[in-house]
Amino acid sequence: MSRPKNDTFLRALLKEPTEYTPLWLMRQAGRYLPEYCETRKRAGNFLNLCKSPDMACEVTLQPLARYNLDAAILFSDILTVPDAMGLGLYFAEGEGPKFERPLREEWAINDLTAPDPYDHLRYVMDAVVEIRRALDNSVPLIGFSGSPYTLACYMVEGQGSSDFRYIKGMLYKRPDLLHRILSVTTDSVISYLNAQIDSGAQAVMIFDTWGGSLSAAAYEEFSLQYMRRIVAGLKKEKDGERVPSIVFTKNGGLWLEKIADIGCDAVGLDWTIDIGEARRRVGDKVTLQGNLDPNVLFATPEIVAAEARKVLDSFGPGNTGHVFNLGHGISQFTPPDSVNALVEAVHSHSRLLRK
Ligand code: CP3
Repeated sequence: MSRPKNDTFLRALLKEPTEYTPLWLMRQAGRYLPEYCETRKRAGNFLNLCKSPDMACEVTLQPLARYNLDAAILFSDILTVPDAMGLGLYFAEGEGPKFERPLREEWAINDLTAPDPYDHLRYVMDAVVEIRRALDNSVPLIGFSGSPYTLACYMVEGQGSSDFRYIKGMLYKRPDLLHRILSVTTDSVISYLNAQIDSGAQAVMIFDTWGGSLSAAAYEEFSLQYMRRIVAGLKKEKDGERVPSIVFTKNGGLWLEKIADIGCDAVGLDWTIDIGEARRRVGDKVTLQGNLDPNVLFATPEIVAAEARKVLDSFGPGNTGHVFNLGHGISQFTPPDSVNALVEAVHSHSRLLRK
């Protein structure tokens, strides 16, 4: 099978030379786009949107129609996996995700099993197939999953949290229970990501949004260890092409060397670390993805362009090894025109740097 016409993103992940620095944006399909809000209204709510392959495909393509992005990301959510495990995901308007049945009782934890991705998560695989068809080999499609620890945070807390007292209470009181959750979730993520790869995802990313809230020792034991197992269990090739993996621990800058060592092809960085320093620390072991503060997009187009150039300049010379992105998801309040300024600046300045 051939690579997409624009394979810059895959080349950067695989450390092959590129003519410019590719970029995509976390949450690139989202509420800052009026056309997304339109489709979401038609769907009735966010979860219906995720569960309809046609509409998920439609919104996946929306940012690519507007901007010259170098990759598409499957439109879905990390919490579809615990939903498929039977926890009952719902989104209360304006309140973020919640579970009807948070996972705290020992019997429920013992009963937890990994869902069959082709059964309970069939709609995700159908969306992947449909998106690949619609992309028609223009740019690569990224599949994704939450990390076991990040999924466990929502499963145990039952919603987002500012102190994580239920999951951290369990971590210290009954680490055996948390390890049981993480182990089942790890098996689920491996089969889920491999099913996405078999269905057509050309790269995969693991979102570890909350691993960075752990102590150094707990991060290794409860988050990193499981991501290492996932990376080891991923299919490395499909149709003769390498399928690279990206691991993103938000607030993981302190542990960069360790993350870069788990066998992934790329490490995502939030904006708290200087990308040039990150590069000096990991050498050419992995590609780096990131790391503009998403709030830069609230400034003028000139400032957006200047801040983007700072990231590229800080990464420094070379013709591969960097995928430009934000340090976290794009805000729903972002002016859509800021993204034009960003894409233009990243592409033009990185071409210039290669001369
Ligand atoms: O990047 C993309 O465009 C792909 C789609 C994507 C979504 N969520 C769509 C979404 C991806 C990759 C995610 C990952 C995700 N979901 C994470 C990890 C990354 C991160 O942001 O830290 C987490 C923690 C979740 C859980 C989740 N889903 C939360 C906390 C929320 C509410 C946040 C908010 O902004 O309201 C969601 C909802 C969600 N997922 C939205 C989108 C576009 C907004 C939903 C809406 O339309 O109302």
